[in-house]
Amino acid sequence: MALTRILGLSVLAAALIPISVFGSISENAVEDEPETGHKFHDPTEIVAKALLCFNDKYIYINCEESYRLNESGDLNVPFDKTDAYCNGPCLDETHLVLDCIDNILTNFLFYNKATIQDIRDTIQAGCGTGSERGKFNVAEHLKAEANNANQIVVGPGLMVILGLGVLL
Ligand SMILES: *[C@@H]1O[C@H](CO)[C@@H](O)[C@H](O)[C@H]1NC(C)=O
Repeated sequence: MALTRILGLSVLAAALIPISVFGSISENAVEDEPETGHKFHDPTEIVAKALLCFNDKYIYINCEESYRLNESGDLNVPFDKTDAYCNGPCLDETHLVLDCIDNILTNFLFYNKATIQDIRDTIQAGCGTGSERGKFNVAEHLKAEANNANQIVVGPGLMVILGLGVLL
């Protein structure tokens, strides 16, 4: 009885030691973060880098300025310009901008709370042959989608953390 008890305790102790060591290591890591901050990209730096995609002169070349997507997340394509937008250079260049952002921060959120995928979906619907053709209002598209499906709502903070998780 006594032996099994001692054995049991030592197993327990053996299991706890790595946990407590690990615990203190991670505590130190958290405390040390400001000093080792340069090792990790800080979020504002990443967002700033992603924002450069909108002004990249090698991406936006032929797309007319007023149709260019920027950080606002709005696609300002008038209904009667649908063919020009969907068959012209803007479509490709907008997807290149989205790829550029996606490569830096997958969970990038536009000012209107749209995700990269939301913008892609809106463009696909707006340039599609269905009833949504010519409708490039991202907010309206989001509302329509939210009504169609139950969506998991994740706060912007978690988006940034998830985005960092992808990068690290
Ligand atoms: C984004 O583009 C729209 C026009 O499409 C413009 O009104 C708005 O000021 C731009 N926003 C930024 C932050 O450049």
